[in-house]
Parts: sequence; structure tokens; C-alpha cells
Amino acid sequence: MSTNIVWHNTQITSQQRADQKQQKPVVLWFTGLSGSGKSTVANAVESLLFAKGAHSYLLDGDNVRFGLNKDLGFSDEDRVENIRRISEVAKLFVDSGLIVLTAFISPFIADRAQAKSLIGDANFLEVFIDTPIEVCESRDPKGLYKKARAGEIKNFTGIGSAYEAPVAPDIHIQTDTLSIEACATAVVDALTTKGYVK
Ligand code: PPS
Repeated sequence: MSTNIVWHNTQITSQQRADQKQQKPVVLWFTGLSGSGKSTVANAVESLLFAKGAHSYLLDGDNVRFGLNKDLGFSDEDRVENIRRISEVAKLFVDSGLIVLTAFISPFIADRAQAKSLIGDANFLEVFIDTPIEVCESRDPKGLYKKARAGEIKNFTGIGSAYEAPVAPDIHIQTDTLSIEACATAVVDALTTKGYVK
């Protein structure tokens, strides 16, 4: 626990940094089951944003677990800490004026609510990548569902560990009925309508 520390306000604000890019800083918080398409859609969204000249950064589940969160596993406790740290990092990136995309299962409603409260309502959009577990399991891009069904992964999300779907997401994407391009376009259209990008 750190003591005797004082918050320093910066002279340039988050909005001033974002104004340089003609955008409004925001976190697009993607949530969904493993294999739902979070990373795929988030990458496609970032490409569309890049083409528009927006400045963004994508924080992705597996990648963050290679570095910052490599000490964490998949117990409920570790998932909570995973999302807590990512929320803090996303908050820093928003402060830098960026459009931040986070692609984590983030299975618990309370942790996503905590992320929103930390980052601020005006700078947070929950994006539900809503893909039925049967579809995720049939895709099984990493072979993890097969391992989970065989008992080789004990606490796999949707099988041995809970996934709490968003009740009222800001953006709701159903990947089993839309192409990746259509999913990404729907997210960017929502961002544009809400005034985050031009
Ligand atoms: S969480 O729940 O938000 O902390 O998970 P996240 O950091 O997004 O990491 C999910 C990726 O880790 C791999 N993996 C597992 N997922 C779920 N449950 C278990 N037990 C597990 N073990 C490993 C898997 O590749 C997830 O990636 P995605 O892209 O979601 O499929």
C-alpha cells in the first residue's frame, strides 16, 4: 500500500489531447464468451477507425496475459484482478485521448460495472459480442472447448466457470447472423451516432 502520495493534475486535459485528433476519448469494452469473436470484431473495428484517421489502441485478452497479467490464472479471484488492472490501464489510455478497445471475456457484471464507474459513464461503452455457446464451441478456434469438455481445463468460461451476459449493453452485436465486416460497421456507426468519431 502506497502512502504519502498526492494526485497531480496535468495541464493538458484528456479532451484537449483528443481534440488534437478530432475525437472523443472512449473505451469500447467488448465482452463475450471465448470464441465469440471479441478480438476479431475489435480488430476489424480498429481497422475501420484507423481508415477514418482516428487514433486508437486495442488491449486484447491473451496479449495482456503474456505481460502485465502473466501472474494471473482463471480462478474467479484472478479474473477479477485481471479486469481491475485492465480497467486502470484503459482509464490511462482514455486520459491520453485515445479510443480504447478492450477485448476480454470479462465474465462478471460487477467487474464491468466497476470498470465503467472507474472510467466514467461518458467515456465507456459496453459492447456485447453475443454469440451462443454452441456456436463458440463449434468454432473452437484454439481447441479450448474440446479440452474443457475432456476435463483438461477445469474452469473454462461457460462450462466450469460463469459468464454473466450484459443486461443492457450500449452496443449489441450478434456475430452468428452478421459478417465480421457488418459487425464492425455496426460498432463504428454506433460510435459515430454517439459523437465519438466523425
Ligand atoms: S477473463 O475471464 O476476462 O479474465 O479472460 P481473458 O483475460 O479475456 O482471457 C481469455 C482467454 O484466455 C484463454 N483461456 C481461457 N478462457 C476462459 N476460461 C479459461 N479457463 C481459459 N484458459 C485459457 C482463451 O484463449 C481466452 O481467449 P478468447 O479470445 O476469449 O477465446
